[in-house]
Amino acid sequence: MGLVYPLPSRHERVHGKEIQLENCLGKTVLVVGGGGREHAIVDALSRSPQVEQIYCAPGNAGIGEQAFNLPLKDTDVEGLKAFALEHQVDLTVVGPEAALAAGIVDAFRAAGLRIFGHTKAATAIESSKEFAKKLMSKYDIPTAAYRSFSDYEEALAYVSGRPFPAVLKYDGLAAGKGVVIAQDLDEARRALSDMLLDHSFGAGKVVVEDYLSGPEFSFLCFVDGDRVYPMPLSQDHKRAFDGDTGPNTGGMGAYTGLPFITPEDRAFAFREIMCKAAQGMVSEGLPLSGVLYGGLMKTAQGIKVIEFNARFGDPETEVVLPLLESDIFDIFDGVASGRPVAEPVWSDDVTLGVVLASKGYPGHYEKGAVIGGLDQVDAQVCHMGTALKDGLTVTGGGRVLMVVCRGKDLAQAREKVYKEIGKIQCDNLFYRKDIAHQAFE
Ligand code: AMP
Ligand code: GLY
Repeated sequence: MGLVYPLPSRHERVHGKEIQLENCLGKTVLVVGGGGREHAIVDALSRSPQVEQIYCAPGNAGIGEQAFNLPLKDTDVEGLKAFALEHQVDLTVVGPEAALAAGIVDAFRAAGLRIFGHTKAATAIESSKEFAKKLMSKYDIPTAAYRSFSDYEEALAYVSGRPFPAVLKYDGLAAGKGVVIAQDLDEARRALSDMLLDHSFGAGKVVVEDYLSGPEFSFLCFVDGDRVYPMPLSQDHKRAFDGDTGPNTGGMGAYTGLPFITPEDRAFAFREIMCKAAQGMVSEGLPLSGVLYGGLMKTAQGIKVIEFNARFGDPETEVVLPLLESDIFDIFDGVASGRPVAEPVWSDDVTLGVVLASKGYPGHYEKGAVIGGLDQVDAQVCHMGTALKDGLTVTGGGRVLMVVCRGKDLAQAREKVYKEIGKIQCDNLFYRKDIAHQAFE
């Protein structure tokens, strides 16, 4: 392939030092993806003294300040593999699920390349709701009672005998639209007919599960087979507007230091959910080798699983990784090569991050609005969807930026984050003013 980058090294770019590339012992890392999550990963890698050069495919305008962006799609497995071989990439780190589902880990490993992420087969823990529910039931992991169906009449008969609301989940990738919370039988009938008779999302099954209630939170762990290294807990805010109103989004903000989780809750979730899931995947012959994300809920009957994801969460990663005090290269490299790593060390500080999104998101929105004032902001700014146009940073997606601040407590972090956001000038952005509201109620 024709991509050749005779690049200045990262240190040369960042610190302005002259370094002979052939004398560098530092590592070259390729990060796959181009959102806020990947910006946070690139930022964490750039703090590693072992990492010399970071490439990111495709990256974005902010990532381009800390890494070299490549014009390759995150699902272009052959192109990425050819690049990694040609440029002697020491380690590749995969952000998006689409790249894992495209088999990037299998292809890289077959070519002898080291890569952090799960095999295509292991991503079933995220891509198939039925697989995940079976795993939980077999290994005694707490979750809502369920049954799965491919027949409309059978599904309807089951739902009729269960309490409402009922939760109906299409068993496959449905661009975030495959979950319906039906308030009554009529609504359930319509949703089941949509999924099982009209095959709106494809020919998959439907998982019908009991409705649970309580605060949701995210538990991200690095997992290498049955070795599980927990990260700080975080909470996403999925609705577009203040007070958790408006349409569902990819996430409008996140924070760590959850007020409603006790140390006992966390220990339970680690032992009974995250470790059991990792061990279960080993027993199924599908060992994990990346991040396992537990989407959990604290119900009156204890902590239960809502879903698993096979990747870093977005926007959770942007608030979690700044707290890592260990060298992230050691963790990625250890997990990718099946080598135990020292227990990661995390700061006792908390973080709070607010997403700035294009007006209209998650519906229709315009791109290309100029963003000013970024150089004045005294906070970590993860770019989620930005581009460069005539040397200016412009909006390039629905979610555009995430501003993250840390503090000794959430009040401190919140005050700082909103003050810093005030310095950003752009007439086409909006954001929530109540991130971490559960900590202040
Ligand atoms: P999922 O794609 O499985 O994460 O579902 C999307 C969202 O639907 C979750 O974040 C929850 O807010 C909600 N949800 C899913 N399953 C349940 C459940 N069993 N009870 C209540 N809410 C649920
Ligand atoms: N924060 C939701 C997700 O990453 O799926």
